[in-house]
Amino acid sequence: MYFDTHAHYDDRAFDADRDTLLEAVHAAGVERIVDPGCTRASSRAALALAERFPFVYAAVGIHPEELDDSTPEALEEIAALAEHPKCAAIGEIGLDYYWDAEHKEAQKLLFRQQIALALELDKPVIVHDREAHGDSLAIVRDYPGLRGVFHCFSGSAEMAQELLRRGWYLGFDGPVTYKNARKTLEVLDICPLERILIETDSPYLSPVPNRGKRNDSRNLRYIAAAIAERKGITPEELAAVTLENGRRLFAIE
Ligand code: NI
Repeated sequence: MYFDTHAHYDDRAFDADRDTLLEAVHAAGVERIVDPGCTRASSRAALALAERFPFVYAAVGIHPEELDDSTPEALEEIAALAEHPKCAAIGEIGLDYYWDAEHKEAQKLLFRQQIALALELDKPVIVHDREAHGDSLAIVRDYPGLRGVFHCFSGSAEMAQELLRRGWYLGFDGPVTYKNARKTLEVLDICPLERILIETDSPYLSPVPNRGKRNDSRNLRYIAAAIAERKGITPEELAAVTLENGRRLFAIE
């Protein structure tokens, strides 16, 4: 029984077969899914899926690559969507200096505005941090009461150590199965089982042996197997503990 805490089923990559695929994923043992929004439209779409599929939950937020959608009106709409009973978190939000290193200040402002919303509503956040480790850490340090997950964590073991001390969860995805996973595996070594979340980031980041193909939550088993092997437990044990972790963080039954 798996919990995919990060999968974009609102993405257009699933337009042709979304409903049948979600049923197949659920039948294959994926008990819970969180679909994080990236824009107003995708946040709305994620909530619409959550309304139709009992095992799907949404997060709402504006992704740092979507600065065009960061007007005051957009933030007001995100705040309204966040009141929905199936909105489990604010996300995905954060900083991305890989795709956009030119608008760092605007990204930081948007990140802080959405953190403030999460704190106001007492919801966790789903953080996207790509090549922005120093600034991401500096910002979350400013909000000691903030809870959440660093999704697809790609920072150092030292950064992980500090986040774990502050109560954060770390999300692990397909890259744990890649040949160059050394750094991520070192992070896993210091991450207690109780703070690990497993994610596919579907339709992206397919694990080996399906790397390069469209991803879906059925591939979670390869991610779980790689993590379980590193931790010296069975994939079933890893699946159970990460399901529990996701339920705890996102307050999901
Ligand atoms: Ni994502």
